[in-house]
Amino acid sequence: MMVEKIQQIAQEIAAAPLGNAAELEQFRIAYMGRKGRIADLFDDMKQVAPEQRRQVGQELNGLKNQAQERFNQAQEQLASAATDHTGEQTFDFSLPPVPNTLGTRHPLSLVRREIVRIFERIGFNVSEGPEMEDDWHNFSALNFPENHPAREMQDTFFLSPDRQHLLRTHTSTVQVRLMETQKPPLRSIMPGRVYRNEAISARAHMVFHQVEGLYVNKDVSFVDLKQTLYYFAKEMFGQDTQVRFRPSFFPFTEPSAEIDITCLICKGEGCNICKGTGWVEIGGSGMVDPAVLESSGINSEEYSGFAFGMGIERISMLKYQIKDLRLFTENDVRFLRQFEGII
Ligand code: DAH
Repeated sequence: MMVEKIQQIAQEIAAAPLGNAAELEQFRIAYMGRKGRIADLFDDMKQVAPEQRRQVGQELNGLKNQAQERFNQAQEQLASAATDHTGEQTFDFSLPPVPNTLGTRHPLSLVRREIVRIFERIGFNVSEGPEMEDDWHNFSALNFPENHPAREMQDTFFLSPDRQHLLRTHTSTVQVRLMETQKPPLRSIMPGRVYRNEAISARAHMVFHQVEGLYVNKDVSFVDLKQTLYYFAKEMFGQDTQVRFRPSFFPFTEPSAEIDITCLICKGEGCNICKGTGWVEIGGSGMVDPAVLESSGINSEEYSGFAFGMGIERISMLKYQIKDLRLFTENDVRFLRQFEGII
């Protein structure tokens, strides 16, 4: 008789509805409470014949465990579902929303895009070239003579022992590729990543970005170069920015000039960023050497051109007054978040 009762209650326990807190409580009282059905059965043990007690006792304990397990499971399920004691779905509409934080553009992307937009307005298009290059496009076609010390100006990462393959050290490679494949007039801006074997510091990095510019046409003169860069500097840094050209040397331009702008920090008065001079360098430039035009298949009697190359990190540091180059690659969100909202 006991055994039948136990089986019957076991079936009830398995089928009991436990979908909300009220049902859970009912179940607890009905089966597990001190006056519940299982407790009653334990009381009934007195009437069981002594030789059956052991077996009935075991089954009764099994029943008790079954009820406890069922209860625990249902309780866990209810805790994870968002329902209150009445079984209603609870949702607190007054809770503040989880903020939908947008990512930010990297400052180098912002500046690269701004440079491109400024030059697009005066008819430049955008060109790109590979980062893995050969000696020809990085050096020879740009008039770096074989074994000439000018090659040592740039600490090159070579990709092959014969030094024929390398990671480009400047974006001037794209000038060559452009002149080899297109006919003048050419007017292009060429942003990209470049590599140099240098120790990483606040002022130098082995990976950085440049933007190259090239204009090749009939009768291009130094005046065109100057006017183009005057325009760029004013658009990029503000209308009161001045530009100064300092005579320099690059194998691929003749004459060559370094481009300085008035220091944005002290407005030309002299500070520690411009080392008291009032001027900061942003890149190099010059008239494309006729030998470079010729080696890329352009008739230097008919065409002339100017070129320039500027550092994107450099321009970003001046524009946003960033003092350490390493900030660009560390991806510290406290740095990156400061460019939030610039789109
Ligand atoms: N390629 C040079 C460098 O990385 C920069 C440069 C100078 C580019 C003069 C030019 C140029 O196009 O005309 O240092």
